[in-house]
Amino acid sequence: MRDLDTVLAGLRRYPDAEAPNLFASDAADRLILDTASDVLAAARGSDVVVIGDRYGALTLGAAAAHGLTGLRVHQDSVTGEIALRRNAAELGIDACVSCPLDETLLAGAKVVLMQLPRSLAELTEIAETIAAFAAPGVQVFAGGRDKHMTPAMNGVLGACFETVRAGRGRQKARVLTAATAISPTSRTYPVTERIDTIDLSVVAYGAVFAGAKLDVGTRFLASFIGTMRPGAAEIVDLGCGTGILACLLARSNDRGHVIATDRSAAAVASASATAEANGLDITVLRDDAMSTLGDDSVDLIVCNPPFHEGASLHTGSAEKLFAAGQRVLRPGGEMWTVYNSHLNYRGTLRAAVGPTETMGKNAKFTVTRSALA
Ligand SMILES: C[S@@+](CC[C@H](N)C(=O)[O-])C[C@H]1O[C@@H](n2cnc3c(N)ncnc32)[C@H](O)[C@@H]1O
Repeated sequence: MRDLDTVLAGLRRYPDAEAPNLFASDAADRLILDTASDVLAAARGSDVVVIGDRYGALTLGAAAAHGLTGLRVHQDSVTGEIALRRNAAELGIDACVSCPLDETLLAGAKVVLMQLPRSLAELTEIAETIAAFAAPGVQVFAGGRDKHMTPAMNGVLGACFETVRAGRGRQKARVLTAATAISPTSRTYPVTERIDTIDLSVVAYGAVFAGAKLDVGTRFLASFIGTMRPGAAEIVDLGCGTGILACLLARSNDRGHVIATDRSAAAVASASATAEANGLDITVLRDDAMSTLGDDSVDLIVCNPPFHEGASLHTGSAEKLFAAGQRVLRPGGEMWTVYNSHLNYRGTLRAAVGPTETMGKNAKFTVTRSALA
């Protein structure tokens, strides 16, 4: 057994942005592990499932403090998976296997440790999946920072478990303990919505950005598709979410091959399903900032970048996508970006990609075109 504080203090966020105000574990991780400690001490590793672990604090903390192996883990973001693998290798812990959010993850699980997601949609999908496949007497330890928790979360868990109890807060974090699954009669996700204004049916899993709706920034960027680089052969929707931009591009440009890529498992599942629902042929790729695409291989990138790192406002995620754009664009290639005007990314794009022009501005958003010289 190892000392938990030492394990947690040694974790890194890489390949996500690293900065003095960004942390690889938080008070909620520690509180979840402490609250579940007696249950974990009596459990076998194969009975334990971890969901939403950011960088491995829950998985590696449980493994190290209780000598558990064979834990099943689901992380929506591929960057979280990479960080967990790297942290595990660094600590010399070989204790877990990554699984999708389905029966392979949860079959027969008796203990679930989880960081509460920010959206109720994602929590609903997770809670329903646990209730559908875990052992009937499963115990769920779901924690978060007070500022990101809402009473509605108790309601979502209450629809899937017989008891839900909020524990005492510590260091502005809290754990909800839910027990005894109520098997759902139906599952909420994926959801499909018809958006007539863009003539698309959009399919969304719980964790995807904007659900099955059309984000206002995305709508603004989409209105420029007709003026984007003519004759582009290789096109990327970077951070594709449900793949709306990829689908509109695939429909508007019959010569181009369109790749929709995102680090989120829910996003790529949604984008694949959205393309299929609309009879469109696009390539969907779960990847961190196009890391598997070659240098100088793309003619056109569209991007509605994230403006936070997990729960913290930080520009690291967006800057990483811009730097990746510079790497994969061919000379003469274009990167089209939409952002909330107050973020003023034009200078950042100019430095990261190349000369950047404002192509449109409305009350809230700016659309820019960056050209690779
Ligand atoms: C603001 S959402 C935009 C989603 C979609 N393009 C739309 O307009 O509805 C940003 C997306 O970027 C993705 N993302 C963030 N960092 C990423 C990274 N390093 N690599 C790939 N995708 C990333 C997020 O998962 C999220 O789906």
